[in-house]
Amino acid sequence: MYSDKVMDHFTNPRNVGEIENASGVGTVGNARCGDIMRIYLDIDDNHVIRDVKFKTFGCGAAIATSSMATELIKGKTIEEALEITNKTVMEALDGLPPVKIHCSLLAEEAIHAALWDYATKNNIVIEGLEKPKNDIHEDER
Ligand code: FES
Repeated sequence: MYSDKVMDHFTNPRNVGEIENASGVGTVGNARCGDIMRIYLDIDDNHVIRDVKFKTFGCGAAIATSSMATELIKGKTIEEALEITNKTVMEALDGLPPVKIHCSLLAEEAIHAALWDYATKNNIVIEGLEKPKNDIHEDER
């Protein structure tokens, strides 16, 4: 049912934890399943994501997608990170079962929320970034 990569990132998730004094923090939940994800970003003056950590209170697919999403944006610029969608994350994981696709949206939305927090704190506008939702289950209808 799950690919080897999903199982690997679920059993051995990368970048779990917190960043103290993070440049941006984003928390997103899905009220329908009750899962919550928080992403911490450390961004340098050149807009490069130096470090990223996450905490996910959620299902295995949410943990695997958070882990893969953090791997994909680490070392990237903000602009590059914005191009990473839940589809990119799913492809990197060799797919998810259809009922678990919504879990990958948590990762994408939490990254956007953390970038939004960074932009707000620094009084800048990140082109192409829309105000994220706190609860993504509204999108599923
Ligand atoms: Fe809620 Fe997977 S079931 S994120």
